[in-house]
Amino acid sequence: MKMHLQTTDPTAAVTSTMSADLWNSAASVLDTNWSYDHMVPSRRLYPHQWSWDAAFIALGLAYVNPTRAWRDLRSLFEAQWPDGRVPHIVFDPLTAEGDYFPGPGFWNVPAYGNRPARGSTGLVQPALHAVAAWEVYRRAASHGAACAHEAGQQLKWLYPRLVAQQEYLSRSREAGGDGLASIVHPWESGLDNSPSWDSAMAGVPADLGLLQRYQRRDIEVADAAHRPTDLDYARYLGLVLNYRDGGYGDADLAHRHAFVVECPAFNAILAAAELALVHIAAVVGADPMAHRRRARQITEAISRHLYDERSATFRARDVRTGILSPARCVNGLVPLLLPDLPRDQVEAIMAEAASPRFGLPATTGLPVPSYDRTATDFDTLRYWRGPIWINVNWLLRRGMLVHGYRNEAEDLRTAMLRLVHRSGHYEYFHPETGAGIGAPTFSWTAALALDLLADRSVPAYARAA
Ligand code: SER
Repeated sequence: MKMHLQTTDPTAAVTSTMSADLWNSAASVLDTNWSYDHMVPSRRLYPHQWSWDAAFIALGLAYVNPTRAWRDLRSLFEAQWPDGRVPHIVFDPLTAEGDYFPGPGFWNVPAYGNRPARGSTGLVQPALHAVAAWEVYRRAASHGAACAHEAGQQLKWLYPRLVAQQEYLSRSREAGGDGLASIVHPWESGLDNSPSWDSAMAGVPADLGLLQRYQRRDIEVADAAHRPTDLDYARYLGLVLNYRDGGYGDADLAHRHAFVVECPAFNAILAAAELALVHIAAVVGADPMAHRRRARQITEAISRHLYDERSATFRARDVRTGILSPARCVNGLVPLLLPDLPRDQVEAIMAEAASPRFGLPATTGLPVPSYDRTATDFDTLRYWRGPIWINVNWLLRRGMLVHGYRNEAEDLRTAMLRLVHRSGHYEYFHPETGAGIGAPTFSWTAALALDLLADRSVPAYARAA
C-alpha cells in the first residue's frame, strides 16, 4: 500500500520546549551508549565501536562531554593498523562473540602493533575523523585557555594518525589510478545496501550456503524487512572472505577482488578531511600546504571522474568496468561539501536535492531520503534503499552552508530536528511517514541532534582553500 507523504510546515520553528526536550533526550542516549572507553552506536544491534559513527558522535559529545569525545576518537585510533588504515569496527573484548555477527572470529585479523589478534575488522569507513577532531577542538577553544590547551594536546596526538589514515586511503586504495580512493566492500561506504552498489554487486558471486554456515545476528535483533537481504548478505560475506584470504592486502585489487568502487561521498569526505587537516596542521605546527593541495586534487578527480554530464549527477564508479552506476543515490549529493567544486556542479546538486527525487523539506517537510523517491525500486523500509538518515542530511546541510545556501540549510536543519523530536533518536526514518526504523536509541542521531540544536553554522574548513 502506498502511503501519503507526511507534510509538515518546514518553516515551523523548533520551539524552545522542543529544543530542551531534544537536548536532554539526546544527552541521555549518549550516556546510555557509553562503554568505559568508547561509544557503541546501539547496544543491541551494534555492540562494538564503529569508525565513522565515532566521528559523528564526537561532533555531539563536544557539547556534553568533550573528554569522552576525545576518548572515543583515541580509542578508535589506538586500533589503527601499521599501514594507516583505521578499522571500520574496533571489537570490544568484553562483548561476547555471539552478540554481533560477523564478529572477531570471522574477521580473524592477526595481532598488530600492541593490539591482540581479532581486535578489529580489516575494512575502513569514510574518513570524517579530521573534520570531527577539528570541530571538537573549535568547540573547546571557545571555552577558555585550559580547555583549548587540552584540546591542542589531543590534536597533536591525533594529527600524525589522521595523516596516516589519509595516506593509506589515497595511496593503497587508489585502485583506479585516477586520484580517487576505492572501497572494497559496501560496508566501507557506510551506506551498506545502497542501490549505488547494485550494478557492481551483480558481478559478485552470492554463495547462499554461507548463510547456512554462519548465522546472521542483525535480523534477530531488528526486523528483517528493514535490513539488507540474504542475497546481499551472502555477497557481503564472500567479499570479506576474499579480502581476508588475501591478508587484507591492497595490491592489484582491481584484478583480484570482485568489488572495487569509487564512491562520491567517500571521496568527498576524504577531501573535506584534508581541508580540516589544513587547520589542524596550523594548530600543531605542521605544514598545511600538502593538505590544501590534496583537497584540490581529490575535488578535481571527483569532478572529472564521478560526474555524469547527461544526468548532471554524481554517481559511484565501478573501477573494474569503468562504468558509472545508473542509480541516483544520496551519496551523489555529498560532494557539495567541497568549496572548490565547479559552480555548475554545485547547482546541479542543489537542483537534484530539490527535485521530486529527493525533495528538500520545502516540498516534503522531511529531510532527504537515501535514494531517488521516483525510482521503481525505492523501498521505504530497507536500510539505505529509501529511508531517511540524519548523518547524510547533516553532511548535505554542511555543504549548503559551504556554498551559501543559508535558507535551504536552515530548512533542512529544522526538518531534521522536528523529525527526531517527533519520532525519537532512531537509526533511520520512514521517508513518507517519518516513523522511526532500526535501532531506537542510536548514537549518531542523538549526537547530530545536539550539534544541530547548537547550530554552529559556519564550517571553518570552507575558508581554508
Ligand atoms: N553496517 C554493517 C552492519 O550492519 C557492518 O558495518 O553490521
